[in-house]
Amino acid sequence: TRRSVIRGTGHYLPERVVDNSWFESRLDTTDEWIRSRTGIEQRHFAAEGQTTSDLAIRASRAALNKAGLTADDIDGIILATSTPDFTFPAVATMVQAGLGIKSGFAYDVQAVCAGFVFALANADAMIRSGMANRVLVIGAETFSRIMDWTDRGTCVLFGDGAGAVVLEAQDGDGTKADRGILASDLNSDGQYRDLLYVDGGVSSTGTAGQLRMQGNLVFRHAVDKLAKTAHAALDKAGLQPDDVDWLVPHQANLRIITATAQKMNLPMENVILTVAEHGNTSAASIPLALSVADGQGRFRQGDIVVTEAIGGGLSWGSVIIRW
Ligand code: ACO
Repeated sequence: TRRSVIRGTGHYLPERVVDNSWFESRLDTTDEWIRSRTGIEQRHFAAEGQTTSDLAIRASRAALNKAGLTADDIDGIILATSTPDFTFPAVATMVQAGLGIKSGFAYDVQAVCAGFVFALANADAMIRSGMANRVLVIGAETFSRIMDWTDRGTCVLFGDGAGAVVLEAQDGDGTKADRGILASDLNSDGQYRDLLYVDGGVSSTGTAGQLRMQGNLVFRHAVDKLAKTAHAALDKAGLQPDDVDWLVPHQANLRIITATAQKMNLPMENVILTVAEHGNTSAASIPLALSVADGQGRFRQGDIVVTEAIGGGLSWGSVIIRW
């Protein structure tokens, strides 16, 4: 069987680090509230003029480097973002140009915080069908650009950053030991638009808009839907929750992550956590967490790694990887 294996990971975080006390002087909030309700201690914000494609290019270079490949080795780029540099062209094409690649495809996927999981499943389908051999899959965001800085219920939650993986075709022998992406489960339900959306856009207001969220409702959907999608994906892979070595969840809120791990019967030692340092970086959070953990040498070959995410749409999903 032809499978998609992660050959390298990389990430980039903007230099500017903002801790919770920064918000204390601007809003009616406290470090204690933010830490206890979300687990977030700090986040990175892009500098003025620094765009999503800038972050993505740096993360991509790091992933190529780790994979021991050059830009010429890539057949295509799929980039997940909700905060593109421009309405068009796709950020992926700007990454392509930035890396000096002149052939192959490059396009964006928009599924908000679930974007990376959707992009990864998309790239995997292309690789398994033979449409591509090596795909750069990126999650990159500058959510600081769509914050309402007067809304304490949202602006303390998000950060900027980018993560990337090089996904590569590998022919296995069809046995259980085959590495790579084993299964994916993707879901959307557009009736929940008003729970989490940006109140602007080209065809509605003609402005970029700001993020609006009914946090407690999103929270309830998250815990329920994340455990379900992870179980569904494990089921498709023919695996049990017991088989899971690592959970790499979307890093939105420590309480959501803890509740999901509990539902999956997984001890917190097996969960990769970056939410304290990065905040919620939307589509970038999972590739960032993968890259950080990979850099620490935490994944061993053969480990079962479960990614799961939920975001605006609502859209949610899970991808199961044998590392
Ligand atoms: N500081 C102090 N108080 C605050 C703050 C803050 N920063 N934010 C909200 N509060 C207050 C509220 O005003 C409310 O006060 P009230 O009771 O006087 O009305 C109180 O805290 C409780 O508010 P809730 O919203 O019920 O608090 P909750 O425990 O649900 O925590 C939070 C809020 C952190 C937003 C939580 O609901 C959450 O994390 N939800 C999920 C959000 C999420 O994951 N979103 C991302 C999804 S991914 C994507 O697609 C972008």
